[in-house]
Amino acid sequence: MNYYLRNSLLFLGVCLASCASPEQVKYEQYVISGGELYQTHCSNCHSKEGEGLRNLYPPIRQIDFLKNVSLVTCSIKNGLSGPMEINGKMYNQKMPANKNLYNLDIAQIITFMNDKWGQTKKLVDTEEVAKVVCE
Ligand code: HEC
Repeated sequence: MNYYLRNSLLFLGVCLASCASPEQVKYEQYVISGGELYQTHCSNCHSKEGEGLRNLYPPIRQIDFLKNVSLVTCSIKNGLSGPMEINGKMYNQKMPANKNLYNLDIAQIITFMNDKWGQTKKLVDTEEVAKVVCE
């Protein structure tokens, strides 16, 4: 490889690793931790890739629900039950409450789900989750 080209690629590599803004670094951290938490607490039902499980568990992919931080937060904290239509299909099973997840965990899980399957890739902060009042 051409010497100059190699050096500029090297510079680009170093810059990508260290020139990221603090916000970007925080976003990446949320997505990574959120992904691990999702695999532990959610993927049993909603599946690793968020497509759900047949008529039992609804998908997380491409759902409007994700935009609503309060709704998702309260669903995670208190669980969900009763008939629900998602992407034109009816579901009616129980989602258990997650009383042992911290607001930070929930913020990371929602950030991860948005990053992978949502329409908006933006960090959902712990304070935003903490402000939510569930019934
Ligand atoms: C035991 C299985 C189970 C687990 C574990 C579970 N869910 Fe659910 N989830 C469900 C069911 C069933 C519904 C639909 C509830 C209904 O029909 O009222 C649902 C609904 C949802 C919905 C709204 C509907 C949709 O698909 O958009 C979201 C968002 C959601 N779950 C996210 C999560 C997250 C995040 C976790 C992990 C913290 C999680 N779920 C863990 C079973 C589960």
